Amino acid sequence: TDLALIRNFSIIAHIDHGKSTLADRLIQYTGGLAEREMTAQVLDNMDIERERGITIKAQTVRLDYKGKDGQTYQLNLMDTPGHVDFAYEVSRSLAACEGALLVVDAAQGVEAQTLANVYQSIEHDHEIVPVINKIDLPAAEPEKVKHEIEEVIGIDASQAVLASAKAGIGIEEVLDAVVARIPPPGGDRNAPLKAMLVDSWYDPYLGVVILVRVIDGVIKKGLQVKFMAGGTEHLIDRVGCMRPKIEQLAELGPGEIGFITAQIKEVAQARVGDTITTVKGGASEALPGFKEVQPVVFCGLFPVDAADFEKLRDSIGKLRLNDASFSFEMETSAALGFGFRCGFLGLLHLEIIQERLSREYDLDLITTAPSVVYRLTMTDGSHMELHNPADMPDVVKIDTMEEPWIKATIYTPDEYLGSILKLCQDRRGIQTGLTYVGGRAQVNYELPLNEVVFDFYDRLKSISRGYASFDYEQIGLREGDLVKMNILVNNEPVDALSMIVHRSQADARGRGLCERLKDLIPRHLFKIPIQAAIGAKVIARETIAAMRKDVTAKCYGGDISRKKKLLEKQKEGKKRMREYGNVQIPQEAFIAALRMG
Ligand code: GTP
Repeated sequence: TDLALIRNFSIIAHIDHGKSTLADRLIQYTGGLAEREMTAQVLDNMDIERERGITIKAQTVRLDYKGKDGQTYQLNLMDTPGHVDFAYEVSRSLAACEGALLVVDAAQGVEAQTLANVYQSIEHDHEIVPVINKIDLPAAEPEKVKHEIEEVIGIDASQAVLASAKAGIGIEEVLDAVVARIPPPGGDRNAPLKAMLVDSWYDPYLGVVILVRVIDGVIKKGLQVKFMAGGTEHLIDRVGCMRPKIEQLAELGPGEIGFITAQIKEVAQARVGDTITTVKGGASEALPGFKEVQPVVFCGLFPVDAADFEKLRDSIGKLRLNDASFSFEMETSAALGFGFRCGFLGLLHLEIIQERLSREYDLDLITTAPSVVYRLTMTDGSHMELHNPADMPDVVKIDTMEEPWIKATIYTPDEYLGSILKLCQDRRGIQTGLTYVGGRAQVNYELPLNEVVFDFYDRLKSISRGYASFDYEQIGLREGDLVKMNILVNNEPVDALSMIVHRSQADARGRGLCERLKDLIPRHLFKIPIQAAIGAKVIARETIAAMRKDVTAKCYGGDISRKKKLLEKQKEGKKRMREYGNVQIPQEAFIAALRMG
């Protein structure tokens, strides 16, 4: 294809501003799918994605559009994940494009993720075309939003396209703007092959499918290629594009986006950001920007029923085939038995995997307290990375402990500002900025990641009634006065609940945990002390009183069927409990206890 007729673009937006709806409209308008084939949102193709309304895996669609000049253009629309956990994938998708549609909700205006995404887009030298969406809403204020885009983001919005993805208004204008304003790609057909690996996923029929953007050269079937960072060689057996149905092509030339398959069994072999070149006469230098993605949040996953361990191993293995960004290794816990220590890109990623395990594989799981990765410098000068509180060495051997910090951008209506500042302050935040834009405040904070991983986002949403938005990036490690806090139930440490905390937070968190556990653990025949301790020092304590001897006693011997029911209920309860020493802890207690009040 003539380079001048190609346009590669992505859509960037804050969550819920209408990115997927607009993408679907563009596909429909250009005839990619007949009306009856349009499911709710074709680009989000996993059930969980659809339910949660977020885009997890990037997908790309090729559209043919006949422009005003009568020429047929090849438009490659790249869908990008909409959550901070998947920032690296987003950055590679953006690197594969020359421009972006900036979708802003006409009623909501610019929000935290709009900003974060647009800055990334600007960093990739994108031509940005603002699209003000949802103009059909009575609360739409397109002029105000234009002004906001100019003032906050600093790009010209006078030519912004006014659209309603839902009502199908302005769709042709959006396509014309893509053709007219986003520059075509460059590239040299005769240079050695250089293609960027943008994304990969596992397909049960095709094996691993790899999304590529060809920079130079040509990629075609039968070519022996090499993945420069991965160090592996593969024979290309299929080349094509998605419309969004799969269509095989003879080749992909410079500037084009499409997919390849090469009999690859695991996505772990196809790393996002890698450079693909030919084995013979290949490029000598890889494309810039490759990064090994590292999990940042770790937790243990244990089957509630120990007999499910093999099933869990199997299921995790299967999920991993499709998602190379989470890690797992076997872990044994004194109380929970055999399970896995898993690493995730963030909390949402953790929740998605956990949910898929329980939903798609029907597994009941206990999740231990999530932990970030700490860097320890030992007194002998050596270093270690700690991602499981259970592995914390003896404190006398530790010289210093460092923890990861993030830079957070919060965008909120003015009235919630006070409570948000307090929340950040309580989480050891350092305020670095506060600006006002059209009645809303933008607050910047530096925060320890460990204070964010539990429930920061939930708290933020609840205190702002859903109006505040939050975005973050990591800014490196800082030394902290960190300690390991153990929770003891009936004098036995419960390893699943031990956590690393900042010394200044330990008392409050220990007290909170003990109080919540007191309500969550059912009474037993004996008194149960619940304690939080740092080393040998107990910092909080609660006691669960002993239960009356006979649960059926309160039936006064009368109704037999009622007695039976009670006993049945008790038995059922037992199945979902874990025994610690001689204390039964319900599965829900583990998660509930970790949510901070
Ligand atoms: P994520 O994929 O979660 O990032 O969200 P998104 O930006 O893709 O938003 P999505 O397309 O899922 O739209 C969010 C909601 O807004 C849905 O309920 C849409 O039906 C609705 N919506 C999208 N476009 C319009 C529009 O033009 N007008 C109105 N009234 N609603 C719209």
